[in-house]
Amino acid sequence: MAFSVGFTRFVISSHPETAKEILNSSAFADRPVKQSAYELLFHRAIGFAPYGEYWRNLRKISAVHMFSPKTISNSGFIREKLGLKLVNQVSSSTNRDGFVEVKKLLHFASLNNVMMSVFGKLYDGFGSNGGCDGGCDGCEVEDLVKEGYELLGIFNWSDHFPVIRWFDFQGVRRRCRDLVCRVNVFVTEIIDEHRERRRSVKGGDGVDYDGDFVDVLLDLESENKFSESDMIAVLWEMIFRGTDTVTILLEWILARMVLHPDIQARAQSEIDSVVGPGRPVSDADIPNLPYLHAIVKETLRVHPPGPLLSWARLAIHDTQVGPHIVPAGTTAMVNMWAITHDERIWADPEIFNPDRFMGQEVSIMGSDLRLAPFGAGRRVCPGKTMGLATVQLWLAQLLQNFKWVGPASGSDSIDLSECLKMSMEMKKPLVCKALARA
Ligand code: HEM
Repeated sequence: MAFSVGFTRFVISSHPETAKEILNSSAFADRPVKQSAYELLFHRAIGFAPYGEYWRNLRKISAVHMFSPKTISNSGFIREKLGLKLVNQVSSSTNRDGFVEVKKLLHFASLNNVMMSVFGKLYDGFGSNGGCDGGCDGCEVEDLVKEGYELLGIFNWSDHFPVIRWFDFQGVRRRCRDLVCRVNVFVTEIIDEHRERRRSVKGGDGVDYDGDFVDVLLDLESENKFSESDMIAVLWEMIFRGTDTVTILLEWILARMVLHPDIQARAQSEIDSVVGPGRPVSDADIPNLPYLHAIVKETLRVHPPGPLLSWARLAIHDTQVGPHIVPAGTTAMVNMWAITHDERIWADPEIFNPDRFMGQEVSIMGSDLRLAPFGAGRRVCPGKTMGLATVQLWLAQLLQNFKWVGPASGSDSIDLSECLKMSMEMKKPLVCKALARA
């Protein structure tokens, strides 16, 4: 499909073959930088940096220091710890009628997970559940992510009609600038803490310190390859991207568990038989839980968090997709939602059926465009393994500890209405019962 909005030309692919052509082509290795992304500094971070040396360097550094299999496996104990904390919070947040709203708790856990991977820092709690009424560091970072998501998700007319940009009718520029000031204060403080720690280690006070992702970036800064504002952009993007994606996916999965008690029970019996009694499920158990993997895949199929692969691509030069010429400067999108709901590709696409993945191996990492929730090609999501490892472990922990039950029985007990922002979220937050399993 091709159309224009103002000065922006769009092509949208709803077929795996053309989706593959677009996502894997070097001609589409750039992203259109919306006004909000630019204002929020994202053109200096991985996701919106132009295809070239700077972007390649960032991808390489993050692949080695943040997303390598070794780093992800070494951080298994942190995921386990945060997952157990999440389980405790679910128990303690249940209201008098036995209901819990899980999204806030998932958000808290995901944010802490990313904060630990990036900054080596954990927060005790957010909001009233963490004993704070706002104003603590945890609440501030939560607020920053929320506002950033909202701003990037806004359909901004100025992106397509440059003449009206200066009027800032929707207030996007003003809000972005306010937000950037707060992000600068927040991230700079953490960078300064790292500088201080490095100085004290070099000063030989005997502190044992291995360093984290911030230290890697600080090393680059000292080699003059990177400025402090580049560093702020990269770190802020990691927090921003890593938090909501995981939260949103887990909320959809739990909603499905409530709606399909038979599927939930089968996953629990798989966990029980692999883990045995009296031991908490661990990162090492995850490869032995194929049905749990199938549930995650099926949720990604039915509710792809980036249904329009939210991070669009931009044609760097004139190119061809199938028989069509696509001029330079065209924005290309993949309608992953249409592909994953196409009955020519998936049998009974509206039915939630994890079994469809039990007999056949369907890779979701970007090689099979029938289901590519993390995108594909050069700009495929670099955090996909870390995101999946987190979702799978926390799902296993939540299922091992609780039976998830809706407010009423039957298929209308949970509202599955969707709301498309940066990602596709549940329109109404999931509220359900989490009954402790014996
Ligand atoms: C369930 C979890 C996640 C989903 C569904 C997801 C999805 C996506 C998608 C669809 C893209 C665009 C890919 C493309 O254009 O082909 C993307 C890009 C990206 N994601 Fe993720 N993501 C997830 C988790 C994460 C995590 C945990 C991080 C980091 C902490 C992360 C960091 C990024 C970055 C930096 C990019 C930009 C890559 C580039 O342009 O080179 N993501 N993600």
